[in-house]
Amino acid sequence: MIPPKPPARPDRVSLWRYARLFRADILSAQPARLYRAWMAEFRTPFFRSYLCNDPALVGRVLRDRPDDFPKSDRVSEGLRPLLGRSVFVTNGAAWRRQRRIIDPAFEGGRLRDTFPAMVAAGQGAVDRLAPLADGRAVEIEAQTSHAAADVIFRTLFSIPIENATAARVFSEFRAHQRTQPVLNPAALIPLPRWIPRFHRRETRATARRIRRLIEGVTAARMDEIAAGRAPDDLATKIMTTTDPETGDRFDTAEMVDQVAIFFLAGHETSASALAWALYLLALFPGWQDRLAAEAAEVMGAGPPAFADMARLRVARDVVRETLRLYPPVPMMVREATRPERFRGRDVARGAQIVLSPWHLHRHARLWERPDDFDPGRFAGEAGRESLRCAYIPFSAGPRACPGAGFAMTEVPLLLAMLIRDYRVAPVEGRPAMPVAHLTLRGRDGIRLRVTPRGRAPER
Ligand code: HEM
Repeated sequence: MIPPKPPARPDRVSLWRYARLFRADILSAQPARLYRAWMAEFRTPFFRSYLCNDPALVGRVLRDRPDDFPKSDRVSEGLRPLLGRSVFVTNGAAWRRQRRIIDPAFEGGRLRDTFPAMVAAGQGAVDRLAPLADGRAVEIEAQTSHAAADVIFRTLFSIPIENATAARVFSEFRAHQRTQPVLNPAALIPLPRWIPRFHRRETRATARRIRRLIEGVTAARMDEIAAGRAPDDLATKIMTTTDPETGDRFDTAEMVDQVAIFFLAGHETSASALAWALYLLALFPGWQDRLAAEAAEVMGAGPPAFADMARLRVARDVVRETLRLYPPVPMMVREATRPERFRGRDVARGAQIVLSPWHLHRHARLWERPDDFDPGRFAGEAGRESLRCAYIPFSAGPRACPGAGFAMTEVPLLLAMLIRDYRVAPVEGRPAMPVAHLTLRGRDGIRLRVTPRGRAPER
C-alpha cells in the first residue's frame, strides 16, 4: 500500500489556471515531472522561479552561500502582521543577531531541562483522548495541535494550555490560520514590488489579538526577570541571553516577535508531524505494533525519562520517515541576489529559488521506492552522505530550524506515549489527502478511530 499522495496536474497549463490551482493547493498545482527532474524553470510575466532538486544545488543555496540567497520577502509577506520582524522573516545582520540570542536556548543540554514539560504535555494529550477512545472517528489534527501548543506554552512560559491566556492564544491562532494568511496573493503570484500588498481584515485582526496576548505574558516575564523570580524556562533563557557580539538583549517588543514565531513554527509543524505519524501507523499496523512494544518496553507504564529517548529507535525512525513523506514545511523560497549559473542555465538576479522538501523527499532518482512508508530505510539508505541535502525536513545550513532537536525529542515522545496507550485505525472511506496550508495538513482533516490498547498494571 502507498500512503496518500496528491494527484499531479497536467504538464502544461495556462498561468491563470496555475494560479487557481496554486490557490487551491500548492502540491497538486505541480506537474509529475518534478519528481524526476533535477531542476525546473517556471516563467511568469514578471520573473522566473527555479525549483531545485539537485542536492548539490540545494547545498549551494542553503549551506555554502546562504547570504547570497536570502529569504524572499514576497513569501514572508503573508506572515508579516503576525510575526513583525521575527527571526523567521529577517535577513542579513538583523537575522544573525537574532539567531545568536535564540540558539543557546535550544542547545542539546537544554533539552534535558525542557523534557519534564514535554512529558506533562504528552500526558495531557493522552488524558484528553480517553473520552474519545471508543472507536468513533476522531479528528486527530485538532488533538495534535492542542498537544503541540501545550508543549510550547509549558516549555516557553511554564504555563499549561488550560491557563486562560494560553487557551486564548491557541484559539486565536486557529482563527488566524483559518484566514489563511499565507494565501495572500502577493505571496503566491509573484508580483512586482510596486504593487501594494493587502492583508485580509480578519488576518490583521487575529494577528493583532494574538500579539496583544503575547505582549501581556512577555511584559510580565520581563518584570519577573527584573525581580529575580522568573522560572527557568525557554523564555527566561532567551530574554536573559546577551548577544556575544553587541552585549545587548531582546527588549520586550523584539521578544514578542520571537514568541509569535515560536508559537507558530513550533506548534503548527510538530502538530502536523504527529498527526501524519499517527495516520501512517494506522495504515501500517505492523509498524504500530512494533512501536507499541518498544514504548512499553522502554518506558514501562510510568512517566518516561529523558534517557529513554535514545532507546525509542522505532519511534524515532517512524518520525523521520513521516517527515520524509509528509514534510510539515513542504516548500521554501529564496531569492537570487546576483546572476547565477544553475546546471548550465543562467539565473537572473531577483529570480525565486524554490527548495521543495516535498519533491526532494519523494524524488525517483534519489530514493528507492520513494512513495513507500519504510521507517527501516533510515538504518541504511537514508544514512548515506549523498542524501545530506536530499533529506531536509528542517532545512539545512545556518538557517536550518533551531527547534530541530526539540522537535525530534517532542514528536517521538508524544507518539510513543500515545501509542503505548491507544490503538489507532483508519476510518474507512476517509483517506487523508495532504494539502499545503501554513504547514502540510489533511485536506479535510485527518480522521482516525482510537481505542484503548490495554496494558499491564503499573510496575
Ligand atoms: C517537526 C517539527 C518542525 C519542523 C518540520 C520544522 C521545520 C522548519 C523549517 C523547514 C524551517 C526553515 C524554514 C525556511 O527557511 O523557510 C524552520 C524554521 C524555524 N523553526 Fe522549525 N520546524 C519544526 C519545529 C520547530 C520548533 C519546535 C520550533 C521552536 C520551538 C521551531 C522554530 C523555528 C524557527 C524560529 C525557525 C526560523 C529560523 C530562521 O529563519 O532562522 N521549529 N523550521
